[in-house]
Amino acid sequence: MKNIVVLISGNGSNLQAIIDRCHRQNGINIVAVITNKDKVYGLIRAKKVGIDTVVVPCTVTTNRSTYDARLMTIIDSYQPDLVVLAGFMRILTPQFVQHYYSKMLNIHPSLLPKHSGLNTHQRAIDARDGVHGASVHFVTKELDSGPVILQACVPIFKEDDMYSVFNRVQEQEHCIYPLTVEWFCQGRLKMEEGKAILDGQTLGTSGYNMG
Ligand code: GAR
Repeated sequence: MKNIVVLISGNGSNLQAIIDRCHRQNGINIVAVITNKDKVYGLIRAKKVGIDTVVVPCTVTTNRSTYDARLMTIIDSYQPDLVVLAGFMRILTPQFVQHYYSKMLNIHPSLLPKHSGLNTHQRAIDARDGVHGASVHFVTKELDSGPVILQACVPIFKEDDMYSVFNRVQEQEHCIYPLTVEWFCQGRLKMEEGKAILDGQTLGTSGYNMG
């Protein structure tokens, strides 16, 4: 059995995609969904299928390392094999990242290394990119810079705005994230010496898709 803890901050559509494809199937179990935001829809998605939920609010007086230490204690109480960041909108301390090194995944809405950080869809439109997308990667200390595992591309059309691009990218996210989670839980995917390895092959800078 592989235990997964999923961290969210919002709608949880990626969480839903992972529940639908992976939860309680083939030895994969989502043991907890943890959020820094109260009342987000992702919590309802988790509760509907009986997954434990924990809200870890951040007050103005909580500093980043105190918060992350508290989060680690809660996550570790579930003894996860994998930690999945699914729209968890916080910058993590190096200590937190180190603690889950090689067993924490993130999805980012761009074709990394392009457009790390926020507002990626608008930035891709502003840059007149013809192609945009999403990347699943292992989490390392530098923001959005860990080795890419899998990317999905979508076109940007002339008439697009950030909402239409967002929807197009999310549709792809919901395919590539559950697939990557499955690979990890099947023991096919790992990170060694800062590189993503799938089925014994070291992946290129764009991950499996585009080698
Ligand atoms: C996703 O689109 C994900 O790529 C993005 O947050 C969204 C969460 O949506 N993540 C980041 O921007 C991380 N830097 P969801 O709550 O519906 O899964």
